Amino acid sequence: MSVKLWQGDICQLPVDAIVNAANTGLLGGGGVDGAIHAAAGPELDKACRPLAPCPAGEARLTPGFRLPAKFIIHTVGPVWHGGQQGEEELLRQAYHSSLALAAEQGFESVAFPLISGGVYGYPKREAIRVALEELRHFAAAQQKPSELTLVLYDAESYELALSVEAQRETFADRYRRWNDFMCQNLTFNFAESQIHTTAHCARVLFHALLLGEARELADDELEALAAASVFHDTRRLDDHRDVGHGARAAQYYQEYCSAHALKLDPRTVQMMAFHDQPDEDGYAFIEADPALRDHHGRLLYQIFKDSDGLDRLRIGSWALDTKQLRSELSLSLLPFAQELIDLGPEALLKKYKNLSGKELFEKVSRPGIRS
Ligand code: APR
Repeated sequence: MSVKLWQGDICQLPVDAIVNAANTGLLGGGGVDGAIHAAAGPELDKACRPLAPCPAGEARLTPGFRLPAKFIIHTVGPVWHGGQQGEEELLRQAYHSSLALAAEQGFESVAFPLISGGVYGYPKREAIRVALEELRHFAAAQQKPSELTLVLYDAESYELALSVEAQRETFADRYRRWNDFMCQNLTFNFAESQIHTTAHCARVLFHALLLGEARELADDELEALAAASVFHDTRRLDDHRDVGHGARAAQYYQEYCSAHALKLDPRTVQMMAFHDQPDEDGYAFIEADPALRDHHGRLLYQIFKDSDGLDRLRIGSWALDTKQLRSELSLSLLPFAQELIDLGPEALLKKYKNLSGKELFEKVSRPGIRS
């Protein structure tokens, strides 16, 4: 599933649903709200009345009436008051509620305007960043809707959205930043390790970012995966099972975050603490904590375990039971995992220069591999 940018009038889109940036009274208004009510016709006003009020962050559904879109999802974004009154959280909720409603209805294609980016005064660049993150967050873990579009009305907003996209850190830069961070800052207890070295962690980092970008994860999720990759084997005592080394690494990570003002992500703590435990134990821990459960904790945990698992090929092909891999995407990286061991990350970054993580994944993955 991909998230597209499109410039123009959202009223023209023949999608399953367009989203309306409404007001709590669902009374219609100016901006995109006014355009949608005008294009949908007077039946829309009648349909909205019993659905009001719609508090900011919530969503309501009506038919599209005279629009080419089948349905309209009305949501209300926050009015911008400077950013210190929970505006970002409310904006995220408005996208999330609309997406949840679309998924509930089984919609395939949904188009969003830039909620709060007009009359409500949300700074456009930030409104775009939040919109793309929320759409990608959702796209990473849901099958439907399968086509999400962020509609920018005017050329200036569209150009701004393109520049927000272009500023996203490249795959190679993010990989190198975290690999350098590991080599320059982290201590590995079991320095004479033969198989749990920084080179192993670097390859786990490479796989985790590749799988994360293949799923169009948001930046914060890629960062959570990267931190788990570089810290996870720092507190090993030997090269055997050493059950509990994950918990010790998680402890080191938490101490490091507070001592060095590194942003602590609870998902990173969980991924590490449970990477040397049975999946079910990790899942149970995630399900019990909304901060993990509602923020892709399970997906990230699976990606991380598979990234660590793929590099078991360094021990020997017998060492990796491919039935343990948790997704087709991970299985499709098996041939590449061996190439990464043989050639190393830097050689491959040079070989596949300037590709985004998603492009690189498409180039090196071999779909259809069975476990
Ligand atoms: N198609 C797509 N996008 C549009 C369209 C359109 N036809 N018309 C306007 N936009 C864009 C604006 O350029 C802006 O970037 O939609 C974005 C959201 O702007 P607003 O419509 O002003 O919505 P918002 O900032 O959320 O304010 C909502 O405005 O219209 C009233 O009743 C509405 O009170 C509510 C408030």
